[in-house]
Amino acid sequence: MASFLGNIFGRKSMSVIGVDIGSSAIKVVQLARRRGRAILETYGELALGPYAGGEIGQATNLSPEKISECLADLIREAKVTTNLAALSISYASSLITMIEMPAVPERELASMIPLEARKYIPVALSEVALDWSIIPKAPSAGTGRNFGDHESAPLPSEKLDVLLVAIHQDTIARYQTIVEKAKLAASFFEIEIFSAVRSVLDQDAACHMVIDLGAASTKVYVVERGVVRASHVINRGSQDITLALSAGLSISLREAETMKHDLGSVFAINKMNAEEVITLALDYIFSEANRVLIDYQKRKNTNISLVTLVGGGARLEGITEIAAKHLQSDVVIGNPFGKTQAPAFLEDVLKKTGPEFAVAIGIALRRLQEFD
Ligand SMILES: Nc1ncnc2c1ncn2[C@@H]1O[C@H](COP(=O)(O)OP(=O)(O)OP(=O)(O)O)[C@@H](O)[C@H]1O
Ligand SMILES: [Mg+2]
Repeated sequence: MASFLGNIFGRKSMSVIGVDIGSSAIKVVQLARRRGRAILETYGELALGPYAGGEIGQATNLSPEKISECLADLIREAKVTTNLAALSISYASSLITMIEMPAVPERELASMIPLEARKYIPVALSEVALDWSIIPKAPSAGTGRNFGDHESAPLPSEKLDVLLVAIHQDTIARYQTIVEKAKLAASFFEIEIFSAVRSVLDQDAACHMVIDLGAASTKVYVVERGVVRASHVINRGSQDITLALSAGLSISLREAETMKHDLGSVFAINKMNAEEVITLALDYIFSEANRVLIDYQKRKNTNISLVTLVGGGARLEGITEIAAKHLQSDVVIGNPFGKTQAPAFLEDVLKKTGPEFAVAIGIALRRLQEFD
């Protein structure tokens, strides 16, 4: 029956969850919108290692059925009260590339892009879902016209930078199975890059780098004026520190993982060995990230003013100092919960655990925008 009565006291506040299925852990964050602010209602994470016969902190490769079981457990444990969800898709499951296109109206571009995309995508186009967006030109170089606007007539000599994204249909089917089995109402899947960036950066004019230190890999993104311009994956992550500690100090993976979480006390006893092992493992990651940074600065004749670290690996004690030794830029640790409102007594714990939840928070923030 149609309702003709207005809701005088405003819409009931909607709660949503952002879900990040990482290689080592699933994270969920539940947010609600009240008086224009994103309120943190609950959050939680579940390590996947033990479900795959491994340890906490280790990367896994579980079936969608097993993942949905874990997700259902986490939803129950974290006392999530909504099924309105959105999920992030891992960077590894997507293909992202920047292409140059002639400056033609958007409708024409839409028919040209699949043809161009064939050059970059190693499988048949029918096997992937394609998406793309035009990268806005820098204000100084721009003409002030918007090529997405069909009214405008771009000059034929101008070029457009287009961000092209392809996701394999099998990956989408896998996420759909997870969503169905976990009984969620997911309105979109978003590649984790965009979620992580949304939760830690503001849309300013500066050029930023975001480094996501996951368990198995490290993702590096360059963001200019709020738009992702470049991305790169380094096939080493925080679990490599655990492996190196375990091998270097002849201790079990479990002991090494515990040690990694409490380095302050470890250094007090055994400073030399542990520090050396950790630094070695991170040297590779940050020198690779610095290579991406220098290369981008040179290519675009710009300056990356700040590097923000996220991901569980960014919780390592002393990581900012190690990163700063390699990166020719200022380094900070991301505080994604800073974009939400939470009880004051949680402030310290949210700051500490925040980096791990960057992707889940970014996804939940976008899901909330659907009710604006
Ligand atoms: N307090 C801590 N100190 C040091 N390392 C930590 C801490 N907490 C978590 N980690 C490490 O962070 C890693 C997990 O990070 P995260 O949850 O971001 O990874 P993921 O999203 O599962 O992986 P990926 O992004 O590669 O798919 C693990 O290797 C874990 O050991
Ligand atoms: Mg991750």
